[in-house]
Amino acid sequence: MKPYAQASNSGKNEPEQGMPRHVAMIMDGNGRWAKKRGLPRTLGHRAGMERMKGIIRLTSDLGIEALSLYAFSTENWKRPEEEIGALFGLLIEYFHREIDELHQNRVCIRAIGETSLFPENVRDAINSAMQKTKENTGLKLNVGLNYGAQDELLRATKAIARDVQQGKLTLEGITAQVLDDRLDTHGLPPVDFLIRTGGDRRLSNFLLYQAAYAELEFVNDYWPDFSNERYLETLRDFQSRNRRFGGL
Ligand code: FPP
Repeated sequence: MKPYAQASNSGKNEPEQGMPRHVAMIMDGNGRWAKKRGLPRTLGHRAGMERMKGIIRLTSDLGIEALSLYAFSTENWKRPEEEIGALFGLLIEYFHREIDELHQNRVCIRAIGETSLFPENVRDAINSAMQKTKENTGLKLNVGLNYGAQDELLRATKAIARDVQQGKLTLEGITAQVLDDRLDTHGLPPVDFLIRTGGDRRLSNFLLYQAAYAELEFVNDYWPDFSNERYLETLRDFQSRNRRFGGL
């Protein structure tokens, strides 16, 4: 079992000045990575999972507060059953095999998305990982599982409407904070930096509300090729950006 880099006396890795508090990643390009090598797409996802581990470790070592990874979107159900099954298998394997190391490194796991639609064995793996790590104070690792921003906003809207209907909330009482509290990402800082690998330049329904003022980075590397060095380069680029949040 490999511990991540040594934490400081405060028990936390302190981030460098100007680092993003919350990084989001669209891990695209596994299929093309595999195709380029004449391999089945599922092996691309396996390579993607291996790369994901390295990225999580580095993000934690850098003291970044939150990392959100898009693993399975509400639109991914359109893929062939075999590929979906392989992704579920990888998810189970990941949570079983990695949970001890993640826990030891104080990573707190949260699934974002509507996981109730997953098969029971997938839900069990996710839920036990969340349960085990829920008190951890290190990296907040959010995994998008049957996640879509439009679906998230619809679910939040319904939850708020239900509270109004039941007299628990007034119309005037619906504030930005109330909405925030109903999102899957409740309690997390907004996304500062959103990275998409694989060369496409779109957000594909990932954290659309939370990334309102995020800096965007589109990387041509396929996800399994997205190295730690390349990630560090993008972070250095982020640090050099002038963020105005609509001001001057
Ligand atoms: C997009 O690549 C990637 C996905 C739909 C799945 C992401 C999954 C992983 C990185 C590994 C497994 C995750 C966990 C949590 C264990 P694509 O298939 O759309 O690639 P393409 O655009 O080249 O076809």
